[in-house]
Parts: sequence; C-alpha cells; structure tokens
Amino acid sequence: MKLIIINGPNLNLLGKREPEVYGNQTFETYFSLLKAKFKEIELEYYQSNIEGELIDKIQELGFTYDGIILNAAAYTHTSVGIGDAVKAVITPVVEVHISNTFSREEFRHYSYISSGAKGVILGFGLLGYDLAILSFLEK
Ligand code: DQA
Repeated sequence: MKLIIINGPNLNLLGKREPEVYGNQTFETYFSLLKAKFKEIELEYYQSNIEGELIDKIQELGFTYDGIILNAAAYTHTSVGIGDAVKAVITPVVEVHISNTFSREEFRHYSYISSGAKGVILGFGLLGYDLAILSFLEK
C-alpha cells in the first residue's frame, strides 16, 4: 500500500512553532517513528509552503496512490484550488489537523477540503496521522 502525507504551510516548523498548540516534536522525528511503526506501508512525506505545489503533488499522486493524508494547514480555510484538486483525483484523501480547529478562531472552522475528503481527523495532535493511516488499513 502506497500512502503519502502532504503537509501545507508552516508545518515544516513543527517543534518550534507555537508548541502549546502543535507540540514539541519535529515532523521529521515523528515521521521516522511512523515509518518504523507501519513497516508494511510505503509511506512518503511531502511538505510545501506553496499552494500550487500542494495542488501539483495531489494531482501527481492522486491517480496512482492508495491514499493521501492531507494537512493543508492555513490553506484549508482559504484554498478553493486545493479543495478542487482533492475532488478531482481518484485517490481517497483523509484530512488531518493537529489542533482542534473548531475550538480555535472562527476563521479556522471552515474547510475547503472536508467536502471532498473521505474523512476528517482533528484535535489529536500528531496521533491524527497514525489514525489516518489506520483508516486506510481498515478497508
Ligand atoms: C492546522 C490548523 C490550521 O488552522 C493552521 O493554519 C495550521 C495547522 C492543524 O494541523 O492544526 O497551520 O492545520
């Protein structure tokens, strides 16, 4: 099974960025643990701060991969383009957010991704990515 985690803007700063909201762990450290935990899966990771690059990656892998785990970060709340890309591809997309966006500012309550997603996981910290992987294993 081939899965990719796609992270959007500022998620490259995990570990340094607002640790009270996003925790102390870098995504690279977490990702190596995740790969060790799910050895049977071909798991990749891509991060970009650029909206078009995220769309390109969804298009590139969205017809061949078994699943996309997408945290579009701030673009979740602004990007019609990423929302459309999620709807355009065949590969199912699970939307993940580290924080509970509904307990935060109102502008974080709307997602352009959710209507096209297979499911949404939020508020469980980095564990959300584990849960997203499990959702693909439990077909
Ligand atoms: C986030 C929530 C977004 O509102 C925010 O802009 C992020 C991260 C999360 O994982 O909790 O950058 O997607």
